[in-house]
Amino acid sequence: MTEDLVVTRTGAVMEIRFNRPSKKNALTRAMYAGVVDAFAAADADPAVRVMLLTGTGDTFTSGNDIKDFQQRASSNAASGASPFLSALSTLKKPLIAAVNGAAIGVGTTMLAHCDLIIAARSARFVMPFTGLGLVPEAGSSLLFPQIVGHQRASALLLLGEPLDAETAFQWGFVNQVVDDAALMDTAHAVAARLAALPAASVRQTKQLIKTGAPDLQARIAEELTLFAARVRSPEAAEAFQAFMEKRKPDFSHFD
Ligand code: COA
Repeated sequence: MTEDLVVTRTGAVMEIRFNRPSKKNALTRAMYAGVVDAFAAADADPAVRVMLLTGTGDTFTSGNDIKDFQQRASSNAASGASPFLSALSTLKKPLIAAVNGAAIGVGTTMLAHCDLIIAARSARFVMPFTGLGLVPEAGSSLLFPQIVGHQRASALLLLGEPLDAETAFQWGFVNQVVDDAALMDTAHAVAARLAALPAASVRQTKQLIKTGAPDLQARIAEELTLFAARVRSPEAAEAFQAFMEKRKPDFSHFD
C-alpha cells in the first residue's frame, strides 16, 4: 500500500482519499492499484455499505501521472488505469465522489461512474485529452453525451473546455455544489443516508440504473422480478412493520 492513498473506515463508510498533494494528486500505478484493492475489499465486506472518493488539498486529482505516460510511451508498460477503470465501472456498492477542486482527465472521467457527486464550489472539471494528443477514456465519449448532451460533451471532449462547479450542477453532471468548508460533512451526511438504507435494495437499484436491460419492456420485466423478491424480503417486512408501528426502520442487520 502506498502513502499516496489513504483508506479509512467510519462506520459503514469507506473513505478513499488521493493523498499526493505535492503533485496535485496525480495518479500513479501504485495509487490505481490501491484503489482497486480498496474497491474489492469494500464490495466483499458486508460491514461496508458506501464508498467515498476524495482528494487531499486543493485538487481532487490532476489525472494520470504524466511521467507515467512518458514511461509507458518508451517501455510499453501496462497501464495502471485499465484495472482501475474495470473495477470502478463494475462496483456493486454505491460510490460517492466529494470533489475538492480541480478534477482533470481521468479525474473527471472517473466521476461519470460515481453514483452521486458532491462538488466544492472550487471544483473544476477538465478533459484535456485532444490537447495532449490523446483521446477520451473511461467510456467518457459514450457517457458524457448521455449525461450532458452531445454539443456540451463535444465542447468538453473536443476543445477541452473547463467546466465550473455551478455549470456542472446546471448541466446535471453533479448532484450538489457546496462551500469548500462544508464538502466533507455534506458528503459524509449523504453517505450516512445511503448506508442506513437496505443494502440489497441499494445494490440492486444501482445495478438497474447502470446495467439494466436497454429495452423498456425487458426493463419492466427485470424490475418486476427483482421487485417480487424484494417485497418478500426481511428488509421490506421490517419497513412495513416500522410504518405500522410509527417508528424508524432499522436495516443495519441486513446485508
Ligand atoms: N502528472 C504529473 N505531475 C503533475 C501532474 C500530473 N498529471 N499534475 C501536476 N503535477 C505536478 C507538477 O508537475 C508540479 O510538480 P513540481 O512541483 O515537481 O514541478 C506539481 O504537481 C504542482 O503542479 P503545478 O502545475 O505547479 O500546480 P498548479 O496549481 O499551477 O496547477 C494543475 C495545477 C493540476 C492545473 C496543473 O498541474 C495541471 O494542469 N496538471 C496537468 C493535468 C493533466 O494534463 N493531466 C493529464 C490529463 S490526461
